[in-house]
Amino acid sequence: MLSYGRQSISEDDIAAISAVLRSDFLTQGPLIAEFERCFAERVGARHAVAVNSATAALHLAMRVAEISVGDRVVTSPITFLASANAVAYVGAIPDFCDIDPVTFTLDPRELERSWRDDTRAVVAVDYAGQSADLPEIARIARARGAVVIEDACHGVGGSFHVATRPDRAWSLGANPWADIGVFSFHPVKTMTTGEGGMLVTDRQDWADLARTLRSHGITRDHARFETPTSDSLLGEQGPWFYEMQELGFNYRLTDLQCALGLSQLKRLDSFIARRRDIVAAYNTAFSDLDWLRPPGLRAAVDATTTSWHLYTVQLDFTALGRTRTHVMDELREAGIGTQVLYIPVHLQPWYRRTYGYGPGKCPVAEAFYACALSLPLYPAMTDADVARVIAVVRALAPVSLSIP
Ligand SMILES: Cc1ncc(COP(=O)(O)O)c(C=O)c1O
Repeated sequence: MLSYGRQSISEDDIAAISAVLRSDFLTQGPLIAEFERCFAERVGARHAVAVNSATAALHLAMRVAEISVGDRVVTSPITFLASANAVAYVGAIPDFCDIDPVTFTLDPRELERSWRDDTRAVVAVDYAGQSADLPEIARIARARGAVVIEDACHGVGGSFHVATRPDRAWSLGANPWADIGVFSFHPVKTMTTGEGGMLVTDRQDWADLARTLRSHGITRDHARFETPTSDSLLGEQGPWFYEMQELGFNYRLTDLQCALGLSQLKRLDSFIARRRDIVAAYNTAFSDLDWLRPPGLRAAVDATTTSWHLYTVQLDFTALGRTRTHVMDELREAGIGTQVLYIPVHLQPWYRRTYGYGPGKCPVAEAFYACALSLPLYPAMTDADVARVIAVVRALAPVSLSIP
């Protein structure tokens, strides 16, 4: 059975984890800083802070950017819940603006139109691994003093082009338009640590604060201690001494996970190259179908740099004469797993109940959802797997549609 996405684990990955199991540190050891350094170098960020999920990284992003009660943060409704939930964790209001119908990422015109005085940040989601329109989003947000947090969970290792500088590609999550980038290492993403995430930023103060918050708000750095050495009880600040300076969390990534991350990082380019090949094969094979629309790109040149976490097509279920459930069942019977990514977040009961959102708020996103289906896409798929998906999907066409 082919699933819509899955990890690729090699003997080297397993050996890397085994070595940690035989070492002194399972967590809080040397591999965390090593993984952060290598990841920062790979994406071109000054600082990378490893945490145990992208959800944690998004939460920390809100904290370091000082988003709090009374603030509004806008994101795309076509994302995983966490992009918006992190806003609610800090007591701010998650809001949604509609998406572009071609790239399925936040539509900057809609962002500008729906901007409100209390909007303090934008979470720009790189859906399926394609960048949101970051230069436009940053232009709108920065003119109004707001922060741009790039949810690059789908885009580990990917890059994109902008019209004004066609000569170079910019890294997803670490580029001149994102103040903070967030990545996920969940097993279906482009590389994995089992669970895990990374926050990247060029700001030293934000990286320092994120590191403090990741581990209970504790610092062991004597230079930063607040308690005076003249204090009668706490003045002796020997090697045991630490201070809790913030209300933090346990968002730590283990050394076991960092070992896997370091090993997967070495394989990232090959993972992405294979994903691109599969997407190119799908695009070619589906180009003549009028009941299936392959994912669109903002710039054709991005076909060579997008990391492609998902291959989400738009299907005309009316033309096919079946519901999505029927189509998914048929594909499953042929050994092909699919998924619907995503249900628009503003239509989830908690969001309706808490903020009064409902249908009609983001019509393009809602229309996208009605037709969306993500097909299998992961590096371990063989050419035969890809050919099978193509043949089975093409055979969905109703007989009347395939007669010339
Ligand atoms: C766009 C997006 N943002 C955030 C997350 C949360 O990632 P994690 O599972 O690492 O917390 C995900 C994961 O599915 C995601 O797809």
